[in-house]
Amino acid sequence: MTTGDITFHTRKWVRPEDLNANGTLFGGSLLRWIDEEAAIYAIIQLGNGMAVTKYMSEINFVSSARQGDLIEMGLTATHFGRTSLTMRAEVRNMITRKSILTIEKIVFVNLDEDGNPAPHGFTEITYDRDRVPSHHLDLKAPAEKD
Ligand SMILES: CC(C)(COP(=O)(O)OP(=O)(O)OC[C@H]1O[C@@H](n2cnc3c(N)ncnc32)[C@H](O)[C@@H]1OP(=O)(O)O)[C@@H](O)C(=O)NCCC(=O)NCCS
Repeated sequence: MTTGDITFHTRKWVRPEDLNANGTLFGGSLLRWIDEEAAIYAIIQLGNGMAVTKYMSEINFVSSARQGDLIEMGLTATHFGRTSLTMRAEVRNMITRKSILTIEKIVFVNLDEDGNPAPHGFTEITYDRDRVPSHHLDLKAPAEKD
């Protein structure tokens, strides 16, 4: 198990298509961005493009953002399991300096080529690109594979 400080990698500019009926940031857009950010983080940590979202803990939207605001998203690995990786996420509004949300647990599972959970073999966070996959994914569905 490894814990580390959150690193804020990705920034987003809140645009009209990201707003709810109240004129503030739509939660669904934010969750889509977080899930993608977590997928990228998991791929970099587990060295496998076949990692899927398994679980997200309670999400408490504590403040929001308006059109034109800049937000930043950060993640850190909090637990390396046998086939899973658990992360913690935080999103902040760069304009108001307020936290928008934190998610204590986002769990991704490392899959083999048949879509079954597979051991990833890692126990520590990498801060380099040493585990980034060096080949394209085989995107055929498991049932279509020979
Ligand atoms: C991911 C999937 C293959 C896992 O199958 P499973 O039968 O739950 O597998 P396992 O019971 O072996 O668990 C796999 C890992 O997930 C963890 N896990 C399972 N359920 C969990 C839960 N509710 N919360 C946290 N972790 C969980 C297990 O602890 C295990 O981790 P470990 O090996 O590090 O100890 C299967 O649930 C699945 O295909 N889900 C859909 C995933 C998906 O499509 N996500 C995209 C959004 S729809």
